[in-house]
Amino acid sequence: MTQRLLVRDLAQLATPSGTGAPLRGRALGEVEVLEDAFALCSGDTIEAVGRMSDLPALDGEITELDGRGMCAIPGLVDCHTHAAFGGDRVEEFSLRAGGASYEELHAAGGGILSTVRATRGAGEDGLRSAVERHRSWMLREGTTTFEAKSGYGLDRDTELASLRAIRDAGGIPTWLGAHAVPPEFANADAYLDFALAEVLPEAAELAEAADVFLERGAFDQAQARHYLEACRAAGLALRLHGDQFTEAGAIPLAVELGARSVDHLEATGEEGIRTLAASEVTGVLLPASALFLDRPMPPARALVDAGAAVALASDFNPGSAFCESLPLVCSLAATQLHLSPAEALAACTVNAAHVLGRAGHIGRLVAGYRADIVLLDAPDWRYLAYHLGGRVVAGVVVGGELR
Ligand code: NIG
Ligand code: FE
Repeated sequence: MTQRLLVRDLAQLATPSGTGAPLRGRALGEVEVLEDAFALCSGDTIEAVGRMSDLPALDGEITELDGRGMCAIPGLVDCHTHAAFGGDRVEEFSLRAGGASYEELHAAGGGILSTVRATRGAGEDGLRSAVERHRSWMLREGTTTFEAKSGYGLDRDTELASLRAIRDAGGIPTWLGAHAVPPEFANADAYLDFALAEVLPEAAELAEAADVFLERGAFDQAQARHYLEACRAAGLALRLHGDQFTEAGAIPLAVELGARSVDHLEATGEEGIRTLAASEVTGVLLPASALFLDRPMPPARALVDAGAAVALASDFNPGSAFCESLPLVCSLAATQLHLSPAEALAACTVNAAHVLGRAGHIGRLVAGYRADIVLLDAPDWRYLAYHLGGRVVAGVVVGGELR
């Protein structure tokens, strides 16, 4: 018999309004709020939501959850993480606190390449337990759907082991085969020749998308185009890390190739804002990364006002954003990016689900969607952004089951 779960007597239930995706402009900030509400789950699907006064008589066996003093929002969707890594970068973090820059450390063989060494050394089992651990951290913070990238193996075995570990932990795998040039290759072109010939065929079986770090010191626009075109031909959706430190052509390339997203955008100027806003590409904003590296915040307000589709994500990784909390990201969105709590909510639910090609059944609390629900310990759903670094997540329902 199908299990049913009734979350009752909620102070509020809040969900991004409308039915389409991605949400842009004024629609991004429209949230539907039901006071004194319930959510009824049947199996892994939402059967109904509504006000308690409209709750019909229910027969059969039903598990009830007391929602008094709590608010329900859709399960959070983290569409950009690097959860498959070994080791940590706490030493580098301390050096940066003393003034060393992220780009200098990277150029000196630290940074990403130090995590590549640790990830290669972790072995498949070590990598699996790392991804499991990171997934449990995310779940505690209300993330019920997560994407994660490879990109710290940069050899065939470790890249494929990373993608398998992500998939087996319930994540959505992205092949970040072009993250950095590993030391055994003389240059980026030689490395890409290897990656496309030796890793892509199997990576394409495991991953849903491919990603590239288009940046000075990583891959240039021509190399990114070559890599992404090959990945697209292998059936992968496309993502780009772009405009993190410099504008090196990521937005025009993303638009030209029909990418799902271009992510970071801390260095994006006016022309980039206009180009992105006029396109179907979603801009993924990662304010925890800008904060962690003490970099400028992305021009989020200007992007939204120009009509761009934006999503919010954690960028969880050991170097530039050791932060798995989307509620904290929503607080940063409100305080640093000048997005309203409603815009922040839509950006890490429905719009993030859109980036992952899942907006038809994830990211809203409406009948027929997956029963992924975050219960906030709050009388008003906007505590999601308001309670800065606080314990705002009281419970998480994943596929109709309380975790
Ligand atoms: O999205 N910028 C490139 N990649 C990651 C950081 C990787 C790292 O520092 O380990 C990012 O910020
Ligand atoms: Fe990233």
